[in-house]
Amino acid sequence: MSTAPPGEHPDSNPLDAAELAAELSTDEPTLTDGGEGWSEDMELAPIHPGDEPPRRDEDADRTGERLQKVLARAGVASRRVVEDMIDQGRISVNGEQVRVQGKRVDPHADRIEVDGSRIELSDDRVTYAMNKPFGVITAMSDDRGRDTIGDMLGDLAPGLVHVGRLDQDTEGLLLITNDGELAHRLAHPSYEVPKTYLAQVSGSVPRDLGRRLRNGVDLDDGPVKVDSFQVVDTHAGQSVVEIVLHEGRKHIVRRLLAHVGLPVSRLTRTSVGPIALQRMRTGTIRRLSRQEVGALKDLVGL
Ligand code: URA
Repeated sequence: MSTAPPGEHPDSNPLDAAELAAELSTDEPTLTDGGEGWSEDMELAPIHPGDEPPRRDEDADRTGERLQKVLARAGVASRRVVEDMIDQGRISVNGEQVRVQGKRVDPHADRIEVDGSRIELSDDRVTYAMNKPFGVITAMSDDRGRDTIGDMLGDLAPGLVHVGRLDQDTEGLLLITNDGELAHRLAHPSYEVPKTYLAQVSGSVPRDLGRRLRNGVDLDDGPVKVDSFQVVDTHAGQSVVEIVLHEGRKHIVRRLLAHVGLPVSRLTRTSVGPIALQRMRTGTIRRLSRQEVGALKDLVGL
């Protein structure tokens, strides 16, 4: 175990896996933060209130809330803009395109998509991405006084749990949520959520290693296969490799690479399913957008 302070990787080397992670993901995020800046209050009042027919509590006898109201509250756009989006056929509810105004929905039960991206609508659930620093343990507290992700989270939200674990010496993307079912499914092997890692290894990488790892190798606790493998960089007897796998077993990447003769000196997780670390700096936390949470839920059938 290294004695370097949390966040500082002790291995000062020419191949900085975190920098490589950032360089490899120069694409703009494909998911937005949910239309920041819009709020229900932004709907313009009519020029003359008398111009509008008096509003009964519209359709009070019908169940659900109006679609444009729900989407405006979710920060997608103002109600007026959402109405235009409905006219343009950009919105669907439970897989059916909505083309007429007046649709009512249940934000807790209905599945609503805008331009094909699912929008998470429940307000009380939050999911965060953290770039976990080296040296910090994946636990909410520690009776031995070690630095934990709980120290970093403070009282951000009640009931947060981490989705799976990263080793103390592993850096990178860790998801944290107060949605218990989402956490359970993302971490459960049966949902086969792909995770991407950049590993710095000592030694040269045999040409046929990718094929071997895709076919599967036997570890002490059973076989493991990778979804993909590539060498990203090689320099001065060190290489950085990218591995995608949907395994959650303890120390799986380190054990797998050690097994094929490539001990890992630095390990960074760069994505979990559709969520990528991108350019998040080490030690930072960001709340996922409703589209991002929707994409995660889609992945695990919620
Ligand atoms: N594999 C490992 O070896 N360590 C981690 O932290 C995650 C995957």
